[in-house]
Amino acid sequence: MRALVMLLALFFTITLDSSCGSLASNVSCLKNEREALIKFKGNLIDEANRLRSWVGKDCCTWEGIGCSRRTGHVIKLDLRNQISGDFENFQMNELGGGISPLVDLKDLSYLDLSGNNLSGVDFLGSLKSLRYLNLSSSNLVGKVPHNLGNLSRLQYLDLNSNDLVGPIPNTLARLTSLTVLDLSFNHFNDTIKMPFFICNLSSLSVLKLHSNDHGFEGPLPSCMGNMTQLTVLDLCYNQFTGEIPNSMKNLYSLRIFDLSSNDFSGEIVSPLYGCIRTSLEELNLGVNSFTGQLPNYLGEFKNLERLLIDYNSFSGPLPSSLGRLSYLRELDASYNQLNGSIPVGLGQLSNLQFLDLYNNSLNGTIPVGLGQLSNLQSLDLSYNSLGGMVYEQHFTTLKSLKELRFTSNSLVINVSSQWVPPFQLQVLKMASCTLGPQFPPWLQTQRHVTELDMSNASISDIMPNWFEHMSSCIWILDISNNHMREKGERGREREKWAEEEEKKEEKKKTEEGGGGWTEKLGETQIKVMLSVLRLSSNKFDGPLSTLPSSTYTLDLSNNLFSGPIPMGNYSGIEFLALSNNHFSGVIPVSLCSAATTGIMDLSKNHLSGRIPRCLGNLGRLIVLDLSSNSLHGQIPNSLGFLQQLGYLHLRNNSFHGELPLSLQNLTSIRTLDLGENSFMGVIPPWIGDKLSGLVFLSLQSNNFYGSIPVQLCHLSALQLLNLAHNNITGDIPSCFQNFTAMVALEHANFMGSFGIGAAGDFYDPYDDKIDLTTKGREQEYTKILQYVTSIDLSANRITGEIPEGLTALLGLLNLNLSGNHLAGRIPEKIGRIPTGNQLQTLDDWSIYAGNDGLCGAPLTKSCPGDEPTDDGNRQVLVSEGNKKDDETELLWFCAGVGPGFVVGLLGFFCTLYFKRKWRHLYFQFVEDAYGRIFVAIVVRANRLRKKFHPQRQIGEE
Ligand SMILES: *[C@@H]1O[C@H](CO)[C@@H](O)[C@H](O)[C@H]1NC(C)=O
Ligand SMILES: *[C@@H]1O[C@H](CO)[C@@H](O)[C@H](O)[C@H]1NC(C)=O
Ligand SMILES: *[C@@H]1O[C@H](CO)[C@@H](O)[C@H](O)[C@H]1NC(C)=O
Ligand SMILES: *[C@@H]1O[C@H](CO)[C@@H](O)[C@H](O)[C@H]1NC(C)=O
Repeated sequence: MRALVMLLALFFTITLDSSCGSLASNVSCLKNEREALIKFKGNLIDEANRLRSWVGKDCCTWEGIGCSRRTGHVIKLDLRNQISGDFENFQMNELGGGISPLVDLKDLSYLDLSGNNLSGVDFLGSLKSLRYLNLSSSNLVGKVPHNLGNLSRLQYLDLNSNDLVGPIPNTLARLTSLTVLDLSFNHFNDTIKMPFFICNLSSLSVLKLHSNDHGFEGPLPSCMGNMTQLTVLDLCYNQFTGEIPNSMKNLYSLRIFDLSSNDFSGEIVSPLYGCIRTSLEELNLGVNSFTGQLPNYLGEFKNLERLLIDYNSFSGPLPSSLGRLSYLRELDASYNQLNGSIPVGLGQLSNLQFLDLYNNSLNGTIPVGLGQLSNLQSLDLSYNSLGGMVYEQHFTTLKSLKELRFTSNSLVINVSSQWVPPFQLQVLKMASCTLGPQFPPWLQTQRHVTELDMSNASISDIMPNWFEHMSSCIWILDISNNHMREKGERGREREKWAEEEEKKEEKKKTEEGGGGWTEKLGETQIKVMLSVLRLSSNKFDGPLSTLPSSTYTLDLSNNLFSGPIPMGNYSGIEFLALSNNHFSGVIPVSLCSAATTGIMDLSKNHLSGRIPRCLGNLGRLIVLDLSSNSLHGQIPNSLGFLQQLGYLHLRNNSFHGELPLSLQNLTSIRTLDLGENSFMGVIPPWIGDKLSGLVFLSLQSNNFYGSIPVQLCHLSALQLLNLAHNNITGDIPSCFQNFTAMVALEHANFMGSFGIGAAGDFYDPYDDKIDLTTKGREQEYTKILQYVTSIDLSANRITGEIPEGLTALLGLLNLNLSGNHLAGRIPEKIGRIPTGNQLQTLDDWSIYAGNDGLCGAPLTKSCPGDEPTDDGNRQVLVSEGNKKDDETELLWFCAGVGPGFVVGLLGFFCTLYFKRKWRHLYFQFVEDAYGRIFVAIVVRANRLRKKFHPQRQIGEE
């Protein structure tokens, strides 16, 4: 690319400088042109006084101006606002105002005013001598002046990053000398799809239309195969569809075939930089909807250096002809639907630096030949269906490798314990590969690792001593879902013995940091770096003294940690999960310093005492889960201050008293689980009036009495209502049919799986969970929760008949009315449900059992006047009930897998810095409901990007 930049520069130097030179002092500028320039200057706002040299007679010596040696005319004006990377500086240097006085510079050939704040450009069509026109990032608004089509000598037209709208004027078809046309980052749209006249621009070498608010769509016209001079085609981030036209095979002069959106370095970039290529020789069709197979003729583009086709819907195999692209430096085919195996020939691409096949359906084994790619810096094969063994030979000469990602395949890493890899990795992600059972000894050779993900990697080992040294640069550490433990059993026994003997010395040793790895977490160097720490679902144990203070994601859940929750500095933490351990003692008030926390999960421990009142200070809390502890006391009024709280779980503690009125303020609440406590009083009607977003409400197993308030029927989003095991009396309100979320099976409760801040902040995924008794079996639901619908009123003193309206709740998957004083006939619509209906689970007799007054099918007790039902029927129903039970769960599970998987992916995010995969996910999500999370971030990035884009584009790599 450098080559073409230089070529262009050379070209303009030759065509302009041969006749141009401000040093030629024998030529002074013409009076009328000087006056025009002075008028131009007078119109401008020039805060930085950039035009201070614009004094005196000889305008040819003024900064930014070039004159013809021959004629003395001003032929060049270059006042572009250089971007240094310093945004404030850039803004200060902006020239502002109208530029119409330039209309008198009739000989102007080169005009670059990019990066300024301009208006009044309509006259430009009269500057007939223009060959080079660059008005990128100039805050231009409105339509492109039609008369630009008059600039018949124009060779270079760059209008990128403005706010131009409407169709691209077809008068541009007259610009037959044009070699570079860049209209990216505007708001062009058109009823015709790709403007066909573009094909007439037969000299065009660079065409960029990317990111025009999805303005262009439909298939590429096959006439584009006639644009044989094309070296760069950048249509990234539009809505093009269809296959790559076969005629494109004529574009054999391409050196970069870039159908993608990639950042090539893998370095810190903002999401939208994804589309931006600094290369000047490329074809960028990324972030579109291209389909079909990758054409075999790709292998004929012998000079190809980059092949980037990510984020489309290409299917079929990677053509084996790719192995002939010996200059290829980057291959990114991520986020497509490619299948088949990885072509063996890729091992011959000795210049390859980046290979990204993330998220396809590739199968088979990894070719051993990839181990020969000595220039390879980044290898990403994550989220495919690759299998088999990975040996040392797979890495033989990968001495440049810095990033290695194998996550989510069925790979078994089979290397010897003495292996010394040729690389020094910075990123290693091998989640869900088989790395164990030993904690990989070769990791101790890796001194620069910043991200390490070995979750779910079948490692069953103690934490090696060397890890502390190896991990000193790590920002993100995930070794969750393994069988890691702190020390061997024998070591622990020896220690116990030693404890007796040398109690004092032992204590001293601990103070010096001589304990286990986790005990030292807060004390070692790690604390400086570690931002994301996930150790969940292992067998780590023992007390924790302090925690790394830089951590904002801390997940220690499902281990054997004990002792009190460490005091310490929680001020930066956003995600705190300590659930399912043996933590004891009270909830420390130091947790109240966690002002940025969105998610706090302390459930399933042995915590005692009351809820500290100061937890009400955690104004950004979205999830508070204190369930299954030994907490007592009343709910403090202060929880009403948690305006963003969406999920409150207090289940299975010993709380008592009435629900405080302040809970009315929790207007964002979606899940309120107060089950298995000793709360009392009537069910507050304000739950129905004020908490209108409730999806899950459980008051189960408390001492609530009185009748069910009809206000509950206002909860149209309600999917789960559990009032079982209280002292509720009265009828089932007939308005229960207003639970519209239970009417249909398709719920839009996607947010049920993770918390989202009102400010658009991003948090780690959180799986909400609800205990649900179905057919006498209690189970905790998480991933599939959004598909759960249930009403459980069992074990109360409810009277009256079952309202017909309940049969309208076609989406209801679980109903339990047993153990009440209901009477009358079970509504026929429930009793005679044909199998196969969604309501089939409601014909289980057990959900009506224990209501002496009830009669009719599916109960054996017939109503007065009915034929008696025989007992055999009942048996059938019971055994079928179990089978259906499983089927129902399967249905829920399958329905939940899609969204659940996606949400799981979010776990790889890190808010500390933007990185490569962010972009992928941004694009994936921006189109759908999740998009909101990212938009806030991206809008900000977008603004900066618009300003900084010219540098990335014009500047050299
Ligand atoms: C183009 O965008 C403008 C403003 O966003 C809109 O009013 C117009 O309908 C769009 N035209 C087409 C053809 O989509
Ligand atoms: C390509 O150009 C040739 C000659 O100019 C023309 O005959 C042909 O129709 C063009 N092809 C397409 C697909 O437009
Ligand atoms: C890979 O997938 C293809 C279909 O996409 C199938 O035909 C082939 O048998 C699979 N190969 C292996 C090794 O699983
Ligand atoms: C609840 O909201 C009301 C009015 O919005 C406010 O006056 C009161 O202080 C709030 N109480 C709590 C505990 O948040």
